[in-house]
Amino acid sequence: VHDFAYGAIGFDGKKPISFLQAEGAKDVGVEIYTLSKTYNMAGWRVGFAVGNKSVIEALELLQDHLYVSLFPAIQEAAASALLDSQTCVEQLVQLYEGRRNVFIEGLRSIGWEVKAPAASFFAWLKVPEGFTSESFADYLLTHAHVAVAAGNGFGEFGEGYVRVGLLTSEERLQEAVERIRTLNLF
Ligand SMILES: Cc1ncc(COP(=O)(O)O)c(C=O)c1O
Repeated sequence: VHDFAYGAIGFDGKKPISFLQAEGAKDVGVEIYTLSKTYNMAGWRVGFAVGNKSVIEALELLQDHLYVSLFPAIQEAAASALLDSQTCVEQLVQLYEGRRNVFIEGLRSIGWEVKAPAASFFAWLKVPEGFTSESFADYLLTHAHVAVAAGNGFGEFGEGYVRVGLLTSEERLQEAVERIRTLNLF
């Protein structure tokens, strides 16, 4: 099962790769997509799965019995989102890419060596030496009033990182950088 929630949000002209592009993908699995990220429809609970026939049939059986159906107006809105011009998606990707650029460049300018995300609206930042994900998230909150998510909450490979959502304006992201700068950590 490939979770392709951020399939539309790739930066620097790159497009995230679909599982279904792999030869034989349909023989072994499915890809799941949500409209929440691509069309800002978070909370609408609308998405779809594509791929292996027998898995789709099983999903349909479960969906039928457990969830009944989706409110038709939401289905119609979803169909419009998918069928209408995709200019809004391009604009959204540009918005996130602009925020990413401002934020990552800002952090680098204060000496924090961070990797620029290639896709999605999250930046994963390596915590400075001497901190864990959690202790650093707490430190930023207490001393800079900047809220980040501790990476370990997302699984063992998240330890050593904090996650920042690029979900606010460039100005607010710059302000976060300025507040972190005052800590003189880097
Ligand atoms: C990687 C990933 N997959 C799936 C989802 C779920 O999306 P939705 O709430 O639209 O079902 C999210 C949402 O945060 C996500 O980040």
